[in-house]
Amino acid sequence: MHVLISGANRGIGAAMADRMTARGDDVTRTARAAEGHIPLDVSDPASVGRLASELGDRPIDLLVCNAGVFEDRGGTLGDGFPPDMWARMFAINVTGAFLCVQALLPNLRAAKGKIALISSQLGSSENASGGNYIYRSSKAAMINLGRNLAMDLKSDGIAVGIYHPGWVQTDMGGSGAAISPETSAKGLIDRFDALSVATTGRFETYDGRAHPF
Ligand SMILES: NC(=O)c1ccc[n+]([C@@H]2O[C@H](COP(=O)([O-])OP(=O)(O)OC[C@H]3O[C@@H](n4cnc5c(N)ncnc54)[C@H](OP(=O)(O)O)[C@@H]3O)[C@@H](O)[C@H]2O)c1
Repeated sequence: MHVLISGANRGIGAAMADRMTARGDDVTRTARAAEGHIPLDVSDPASVGRLASELGDRPIDLLVCNAGVFEDRGGTLGDGFPPDMWARMFAINVTGAFLCVQALLPNLRAAKGKIALISSQLGSSENASGGNYIYRSSKAAMINLGRNLAMDLKSDGIAVGIYHPGWVQTDMGGSGAAISPETSAKGLIDRFDALSVATTGRFETYDGRAHPF
């Protein structure tokens, strides 16, 4: 199985790449700039285009849109959340995922592949608890993106899953987070394996529970 992961150089992306490689999957590890990784800055359309050219017509069985940023933590409603931060975070968290899906659609179609979008519980509108406006909005947009891609790609046999990876001990989640990247990666990979057109469009936690939208 050929898997392509964005942001595979550290955190959850690296843990997924390591685990899938260890079980024998053929993993294309991409990163903005990291040795041993194929270059991919998801916020740069030219970079996404170069990756697609490099892959040519090679089928992709699973595309994992994992790259993400959380820059607005601790921002205050009165003076936080500047417009350039909205633009940058959406370019990576939302547009970046879309551009990857769009550019790699021929490769996904060739394999009747699957798409996994790594969103977050913070993107749930039912569980809104305030703050982190940009991150929450971007992850909510990712859930919406996944729901609509699932509709459009069902007839191609391409399944789309949307996931909350847990609160994970990475640079983003912090050392006090609940679970290790390895635990998150194991759960997520189980979800990817179970994903099919029959279950497309679901928003699930890494450990297999349906997440409220
Ligand atoms: N950790 C958590 O508790 C948690 C919870 C919910 C959801 N998530 C989501 O899970 C995903 C992975 O998070 P993580 O905890 O592993 O975060 P992380 O440790 O901060 O790693 C983020 C990854 O995204 C990459 N990235 C950032 N901007 C990029 C760009 N423009 N192009 C390509 N790659 C880019 C980073 O690459 P560089 O090294 O180049 O910066 C890095 O590989 C994210 O989408 C995050 O929102 C995480």
